[in-house]
Amino acid sequence: MAHILITHTLPQTVAETLHNAGHQVTQGTLTKPPTQDELIALVTQAPYDAVITLLTDKVTAAVMDAAPSVKLWANYATGYDNIDVAAATARGVAVTNAPAIESAEAVAEHTIALLISLSRNIVAADTYTKSGKYEGWDPMLFIGANFFKKTIGIIGAGKIGRRVAYYARALGLSVVYHDINHDKELEETLGATFLPSNEDVLKQADFVSLHVPLLESTRHLINAERLALMKPTAYLVNTSRGAVVDEQALEQALIEKRIAGAALDVYEHEPQIRAELRALDSVILTPHIASASVEARAEMCEVVLKNVLAFASGQSLPNQVH
Ligand code: GLV
Repeated sequence: MAHILITHTLPQTVAETLHNAGHQVTQGTLTKPPTQDELIALVTQAPYDAVITLLTDKVTAAVMDAAPSVKLWANYATGYDNIDVAAATARGVAVTNAPAIESAEAVAEHTIALLISLSRNIVAADTYTKSGKYEGWDPMLFIGANFFKKTIGIIGAGKIGRRVAYYARALGLSVVYHDINHDKELEETLGATFLPSNEDVLKQADFVSLHVPLLESTRHLINAERLALMKPTAYLVNTSRGAVVDEQALEQALIEKRIAGAALDVYEHEPQIRAELRALDSVILTPHIASASVEARAEMCEVVLKNVLAFASGQSLPNQVH
C-alpha cells in the first residue's frame, strides 16, 4: 500500500481509483498556487510515497529534501518545468508527466481559436457589439486578415505543433516550421517547409505559433531581437509556456506596433500579467485554459493514475520524464 497525496482537488475518479486499488489517499487543501513554504507544509504532513502535483506546484530541490519519503512526483500536466527534474534524478526520485492525446488536441484547437479570433478581431468586435456601439454596416469596421495564401510558422513541431499545422493547412495557410527534428510526414502530407532556424520562421510567417517546452534553451526564445524579425503585419500566438516569450519585449513591440497582435494563454509570471499588456487592444488573453476540455482533463486523470499505480506496484513508469 502506498500513501499518495493529491495537492489540489482533481476529479474524484483519481482518489477513488487509488483508494479502490488499496492505497491511502490524502486530498490536499490547496486551492491556488502555493508558495514554497505552503507546499513544504503540505507535503511534510505525512511520509507520503507519491505526490500528484499541478503545474503551479513548484517542486524545487528544497521541497524534495523536505519530503524525502516521496519517491514519485506525478505531474497532472504535459509540461513539467515546475519540477526540478535534475534534482529529482540526483536524489533517485521519479518524475512523471501526463501527456494526454486529448490535451494535445485541446491545445491545438485553442490555438486555432486564438488565431481566428486575432485575425478577425472577434473579441474586440464582440465587446463593441454588446456595448451597443454598432450603428450600421461600415466597410471599414473591424477589418481583419484572411488566412488564404498566408503562412503560419510553427516553432516546435511536436504533438501539438503538428496538429496546429494540420488544422492551419485546412484553413488555407501554408506551413513553415522549425524543430530540432525534420518531420517528413508533415512535409509530405501538408507540403510543410522545414526552415533551418527559428529566425527564418519569424521572418517568413504571417502567424507565428509557439509549441516548445520551457527549457533553459527556450527561455526568452522570443526576445526583442527575434520580435524585430517579424513582419509588422504578423501575429504571435503562445499556448506553450509564458517564459518562452520575453513578455516585456513583446509588450514593447505591440505598443510600438512592430507586430500586428498577439494571443497569449500563458504568462511569464503566472498568474500576474503585466498591466500594460492587459490594456492593449491588439492582444487577446486567456487564463491558461488551452488544455481545458472535458476530454483532456479526463484523459489526464487516466494518465496520472497509470503512472501512480505502476509506481505503487513497482512497475516501470509509462511517463517518466528522465
Ligand atoms: C498545460 O499547460 C499542461 O502542460 O498540461
